[in-house]
Amino acid sequence: MKRLNNLSAAAINGQRLVMLTAYDAVFANYAATAGVDVLLVGDSLGMVIQGHTDTLPVTIADIAYHTACVVRGNVDAVVLADLPFGSYQASPDDAMRAAATLMQAGAQAVKLEGGSTMASTIEFLVKRGVPVVGHIGMTPQSVHALGGFRVQGRSDAAVEQLRIDLAAVTDAGAAMVVLECVPATVGAVLSGESTIPVIGIGAGPDTHGQVMVLHDILGWTSKLPKFARNFTAGGATVQDALSAYVTAVRDATFPNESECYA
Ligand code: KIV
Repeated sequence: MKRLNNLSAAAINGQRLVMLTAYDAVFANYAATAGVDVLLVGDSLGMVIQGHTDTLPVTIADIAYHTACVVRGNVDAVVLADLPFGSYQASPDDAMRAAATLMQAGAQAVKLEGGSTMASTIEFLVKRGVPVVGHIGMTPQSVHALGGFRVQGRSDAAVEQLRIDLAAVTDAGAAMVVLECVPATVGAVLSGESTIPVIGIGAGPDTHGQVMVLHDILGWTSKLPKFARNFTAGGATVQDALSAYVTAVRDATFPNESECYA
């Protein structure tokens, strides 16, 4: 069984980490068999499974249910579960209760969105035995505050804020951090400065690893995001597409220039 702390150490030493969302037992099995390191039970399930336009309606019961499904299909990947909107922002106590629900469903770690504002909550969880993955940049649970799903880090001030957020989640004890939707140059600079692995989604090729939404890399979406690649193009089977994704992340051929924000 893979372990988050080992993956974190390997990623910071240059082995690219492969993360992918999974929501059920079959795809968890296929993805882990293909070599995916971390199965993320993402609150993106609100959009790709439940059909909502954003992730806000997802509940802790939804994530716990899908986490248990993923755990049953998993082979050896780390199962990471998202703390959904409203389950952790109000207090560290809320966050601990929500994290306990997901870990009792079989998750080995939880992911939460937010930088310096969430640092004390991350520290609270980590000190109580909950491995935490941070999530900065474009944070989908803040879609309304951000004015839509927009690329972040486009000004010097915004990059400086990302630096502050990265330092805060690092100091709070996060094992790694997801960096979403920033220019590739910003992804490279932050990853180069970071002492914990930075796992990119729409953050360019120079991060310590990549995370993608399963349905995007299988092309099961009405509009493929710029930063995603349909690995079934050309008629590949699901299993071959998952293996191709793993290989492309490990050898840094994904994402290419046209899959990055400038
Ligand atoms: O919920 C999710 O799928 C995520 C990824 C976009 C990183 O958080």
